[in-house]
Amino acid sequence: MKPVVSNPVFVHPQGLCESGDVGAGTRIWAFAHVLPGAKIGRDCNICDHAYVEYGVTLGDRVTVKNRVLLFDGVTVEDDVFLGPAVVFTNDLRPRAAMKRGRDEFLPTIVRTGATLGAGVVVVCGSTIGPHAFIAAGAVVTRDVPAHGFVVGNPGRLIGWACECGMRLGDTLACACGRSYRQEPAGLMSIRPPD
Ligand SMILES: CC(C)(COP(=O)(O)OP(=O)(O)OC[C@H]1O[C@@H](n2cnc3c(N)ncnc32)[C@H](O)[C@@H]1OP(=O)(O)O)[C@@H](O)C(=O)NCCC(=O)NCCS
Ligand SMILES: [Zn+2]
Repeated sequence: MKPVVSNPVFVHPQGLCESGDVGAGTRIWAFAHVLPGAKIGRDCNICDHAYVEYGVTLGDRVTVKNRVLLFDGVTVEDDVFLGPAVVFTNDLRPRAAMKRGRDEFLPTIVRTGATLGAGVVVVCGSTIGPHAFIAAGAVVTRDVPAHGFVVGNPGRLIGWACECGMRLGDTLACACGRSYRQEPAGLMSIRPPD
């Protein structure tokens, strides 16, 4: 019987990974810094200049593009795409002279399959629903429903995104074959792809 060989974690010689909790197949590129206590799933790609603080959890197959900043209290589920220079926050009212403890930070959650475009800022305390699509440059200030399509500053829900990434029209049916119905928490899939 063939032995099971799992992909090792790859850390670029110029990358700094101080966490012992990184899943197989994950790649950490030059000048990225992963702190002790960060939990990283399998097959993630953490690109140059990303910063992943203690208290951050990433699921499996998460893409963390260049210059993404992830601070304590941020949880990112499987298959999420974080575009270049996405910035998370964890202290809602920071003051340099008043240090707040971790218990005062507001947690942020990004659910499975969501995309955050380049330069998105996420104000802490928000939950971004599964397969939501946040357009480049948007500022997320509140919860985003499942499959929500959000643009602008402050971020506004202007429509819905398919799991494939395309924007949906009024019929909530996509050319890829998927279709949806609207529920209070966002869109619910009623038809898988052809
Ligand atoms: C949102 C996005 C997917 C375009 O979606 P779309 O539905 O095809 O949008 P359209 O280009 O048809 O534009 C629709 C409207 O939204 C506006 N719009 C598009 N992108 C926008 C953005 N990022 N912020 C604000 N408004 C935006 C357009 O100006 C247009 O407005 P109008 O109707 O008044 O003319 C794209 O702009 C985007 O942000 N992609 C993310 C790219 C990225 O960050 N990639 C990271 C990896 S490199
Ligand atoms: Zn689709």
